[in-house]
Amino acid sequence: MNKSLKIVLMGYGKMGKAIENIALSRGHKMVQVFSSKSPATSPDAIPAADIIIEFTRPETAYKNLELSIKSGTPVITGTTGWLERLNEIEILCAERDGTFLYSSNFSIGMNVFFEINQLLARLMNKTGDYRASMEERHHIQKKDKPSGTAVTLAQQIINESSRISNWTLEQGQTNTELPIKVVREGDIKGFHSIEYRSDIDRIRIEHEAFSREGFAMGAVMVAEWIVNKKGVFRMEDYVREVLLH
Ligand SMILES: NC(=O)c1ccc[n+]([C@@H]2O[C@H](COP(=O)([O-])OP(=O)(O)OC[C@H]3O[C@@H](n4cnc5c(N)ncnc54)[C@H](OP(=O)(O)O)[C@@H]3O)[C@@H](O)[C@H]2O)c1
Repeated sequence: MNKSLKIVLMGYGKMGKAIENIALSRGHKMVQVFSSKSPATSPDAIPAADIIIEFTRPETAYKNLELSIKSGTPVITGTTGWLERLNEIEILCAERDGTFLYSSNFSIGMNVFFEINQLLARLMNKTGDYRASMEERHHIQKKDKPSGTAVTLAQQIINESSRISNWTLEQGQTNTELPIKVVREGDIKGFHSIEYRSDIDRIRIEHEAFSREGFAMGAVMVAEWIVNKKGVFRMEDYVREVLLH
C-alpha cells in the first residue's frame, strides 16, 4: 500500500483529469489544481505538497516547472514540445537540490517499447542493408509534430547508429537521416512504429495506446516512486529500478 500523497496538479485538460481520477482511486489527495484560468504565478502560490504533476502546453511548461522547482516540491512533467529548455530546468533542479523528472511518455508499455527499440537499433547498426523509418499517428488536436515520444524513439536510434545523425519530417531524405511520417486523424491516442527495410525483408515494431489511462497511471506510479528521491530522473531510472529488478 502506497503512502497517500498530497498532489498539486498543473493542467486540467485531458491528461490532468485522467491523472486526478487515477490518483484519487489510489488514495491520493489533490491539494490544488492549476488551470489556464488560474495558473501558478509564483513559488509561494504553490501549496505544500508531496509532488507536483504538470501536464499543460509547450508554451507554459517551462514557467510552471521553474516555479515548481523554486517552490522546493518534487515535480514531474509529461508536457511535450518544449524540450529545447529541458537542460535549463535540469540545471535549476540540480542548483536547488530539487527533484525533477520529464518523460515524453509515461505509459509503462511504451517504456518497455523504448527498451526494445534501443536493443533493436543496436542490432540493426551492425547490418548495413536496412533503411530505418518511423511513423507516428495522433488525434487531430495534438499541438506538436512529431510527438515527443517519436523524438525520444528517434533519438534512441540515432544514439545507437553510426550512420544516422538526425531525424527529418521530409521525404527524399539522405541515408544519414531518419524519416518520420506524421499522421493527425480522429481520436488516435498514440501510435508509433519503427521499420527496418531491405530488399529481402522487413522488421517492424509498433506500439499503440488504446486510452489515456496508461499515461495517467504511469505518471501516478512514477509520482509514488519519486517523492522521497532527490535529483534529476528519467523514466529509464524507474524502468531499471522497478521493472528490470
Ligand atoms: N508524457 C506523456 O505520457 C503524455 C501523454 C499524453 C499527453 N502528453 C502531453 O501532455 C500535455 C497535455 O496534454 P493534454 O492531452 O492533457 O492536453 P489538453 O487537453 O490540451 O490540456 C492541457 C491543459 O493545460 C491547461 N493550461 C494551459 N496553460 C496552463 C497553465 N499555465 N497552468 C495550468 N494549466 C494550463 C490548458 O487550459 P486551456 O485549454 O484553457 O488553455 C488545458 O486544459 C501535451 O503537451 C501533450 O502532448 C504527454
